[in-house]
Amino acid sequence: MSDKNSVSMEKIVTLAKQRGFVYAGSSIYGGLANAWDFGPLGAQMRMNLKADWWKQVVESRSDMVGLDGAILMNPRVWEASGHVAGFSDPLVEDTVTHKRYRADHLIEEATGESVDGWSIDQIGEKLSELELKSPDGNPLTAPKSFNLMFETAIGKTEGTKSSVYLRPETAQAIFVNFKNVLTTSRKRVPFGIAQIGKAFRNEITPGNFIFRTLEFEQMEIEYFIEEEGWEKHFDDWADWMQNWAESIGIDPKRLHRLEVPSESLAHYSKRTIDFEFDFPFGTKELWGLAYRTDFDLTNHQENSGENLSYTDPNDGKRKFVPHVVEPSLGVDRTLLAMLLSAYDEEEVNGDTRVVMRFKPHMAPYQIAVLPLSKKPELQAAAQPVFEKLAAHWRTDYDETQSIGRRYRRQDEIGTPYCVTVDFDSIEDKAVTIRDRDSMEQERVAIDELEAWFEDRLK
Ligand code: GAP
Repeated sequence: MSDKNSVSMEKIVTLAKQRGFVYAGSSIYGGLANAWDFGPLGAQMRMNLKADWWKQVVESRSDMVGLDGAILMNPRVWEASGHVAGFSDPLVEDTVTHKRYRADHLIEEATGESVDGWSIDQIGEKLSELELKSPDGNPLTAPKSFNLMFETAIGKTEGTKSSVYLRPETAQAIFVNFKNVLTTSRKRVPFGIAQIGKAFRNEITPGNFIFRTLEFEQMEIEYFIEEEGWEKHFDDWADWMQNWAESIGIDPKRLHRLEVPSESLAHYSKRTIDFEFDFPFGTKELWGLAYRTDFDLTNHQENSGENLSYTDPNDGKRKFVPHVVEPSLGVDRTLLAMLLSAYDEEEVNGDTRVVMRFKPHMAPYQIAVLPLSKKPELQAAAQPVFEKLAAHWRTDYDETQSIGRRYRRQDEIGTPYCVTVDFDSIEDKAVTIRDRDSMEQERVAIDELEAWFEDRLK
């Protein structure tokens, strides 16, 4: 096995494109910077990981329910949440090339010190003091605050248009529906609401493939609790995140917890830990876990005039605004961490074999049915095998090229098992199953195939 940490982004990006995980967006028109489309295998893996997350956090728990809120919300939501006033990054521009940069990142790179929590004036003073130039060596403009929300307009004619934002986080739909869910679901605190959906941020410096994009997908939970004892819920969710990461094949050796220092906390958070992952371009945030206190519900209560307090069912008089612990996970970064964790290269008979060692429940295909050749009698024997298996598991069917090349292709897309139908299969009603990781082969009767896979592909 190779040292997995040494896999370069180039290799992952190339494999992702060639095998159909991720394509450059709008590529026939020359692309659109930092926009990506997910091909057949990427789309399937996203489905697998979202379905597993939903099963674990909604379907398997009596204290959790799901929600699917709208992307466009009343703009007052974003005033109450603090995003209109505070969801911004300090931007500077190269006065010659007009390329834009994050001023905080330039200072951090030059000094090694974090400037989180600094005002725009403090950042400006520091830039002048350091006499910082752009990476191209040109003078920079003074920094200004750049709000990350995408603004768009509803309405057909100028003058009748009204501004709305594309949501920068899915979380707010959960807060504004807190009362709806409470009254319709009969849940009692502590309970949580989970949601999966697209979010949009006009990032100043997007990049690193699907790591930081303008459009991305989040899986978020707001877990409503009493203030007292929030630490226990926080720790429980941190453990859950760690365990889920490992269960979907994220390399635990590359996953670290960072206690976010108080000066770097988001405007709503009293405590945050980032789950960081060792990406080839550095150790960076994969997911976040925040204790958002009662910040959001209190602000929505004040701004909407709607009473968002909760009445303790054991003591009908005691009312309080619940606090929340928020596990927030990006689908795209999760997929990237899964690709990087799964990538492996090994020498086999003087050749390099590339294997994506995905967990079987996350792999795009779990089985590939491969007739030895395109001969009609083999197709006739292989088709019923495919249908039998595809009824239960994600199954590929491929009959072109040599069997050796087809095995290599299935290794590269991470299919755990290949089922080869050969001329003997017609007589002995058996097939050969090849294991992706060990490359060992086993002859199994067609009648016993479902039972064989049931034991292995739960
Ligand atoms: N509701 C809390 C929240 O949105 P965040 O740390 O800003 O917190 C949560 O985002 C997660 O969303 C991140 O940990 C990351 O996985 C993902 N994410 C955030 N910005 C992203 C971007 N521009 N591109 C891809 N994923 C992003």
